[in-house]
Amino acid sequence: MRVVVSIGGSVLAPDLDPGRVAAYAEAIERVAADGCEVGVVVGGGGVAREYIETARELGANEVELDQLGIGTTRLNARLLIAALEDRANVSPATGYDEAAEALRRGEVSVMGGVTPGQTTDAVAAAFAESVDADLLVYATSADGVYDADPNVDADASQFAELSPAALVDIVLPMSRNAGASAPVDLLAAKLIDRAGIRSIVLDGTDPSAVVDAVLRGDHTGTDVVPTGTDEPSYWTGDT
Ligand code: UTP
Repeated sequence: MRVVVSIGGSVLAPDLDPGRVAAYAEAIERVAADGCEVGVVVGGGGVAREYIETARELGANEVELDQLGIGTTRLNARLLIAALEDRANVSPATGYDEAAEALRRGEVSVMGGVTPGQTTDAVAAAFAESVDADLLVYATSADGVYDADPNVDADASQFAELSPAALVDIVLPMSRNAGASAPVDLLAAKLIDRAGIRSIVLDGTDPSAVVDAVLRGDHTGTDVVPTGTDEPSYWTGDT
């Protein structure tokens, strides 16, 4: 099975803790050792936000701010690469072809951001589409997709499963509402819908949650299931 895992910066490196990055590398290695081809997209987290806020006060424009964000995602990606040692590409892929080439070489293919005007949520969806991934996993600081922002609305309830089109409908109003935090951003949801990518949104605080989700489909987050698709045969042992 080919899988792309998106690891939020706030999940991989909320602070610079080598133990945490090593635990994530170990989780990725377990998935690869089981026979999966693995792509990883790493986010920027709080460090990216600090850089962006500082540069904004200095008068940087939005593209310059995004470039700082991209730089931070690649720094975090390099941390994961350091922990994966020779299992991963030498440096974060800077584009989808480069990332796909690393997969073809049999490496864990790690990348961060790519281009201004988006986030690594969208990078992960585009990477998954470009390599025809069977599964896309978002390891985030949210524990799934809710019908409203659970940080704001105490009555918000979590979806166990929804379609990509429903995901777009959920995320759309959140993208208009400054301050509301969508578990996956609108562009990513649209790419998932357009390409029909089976996805999982889960709480990535514990890296073993990613292992259970990828290898067995077990998780407590949200499945995003394109209409009319079956479970990956990897889970049912048919491959
Ligand atoms: P993230 O993907 O970490 O953004 O990229 P985020 O969703 O705000 O972070 P989390 O999920 O809360 O941790 C950090 C920043 O890098 C820039 C954007 O400015 C983004 O906010 N970026 C990232 C790009 O401009 N292009 C990319 O392809 C990726």
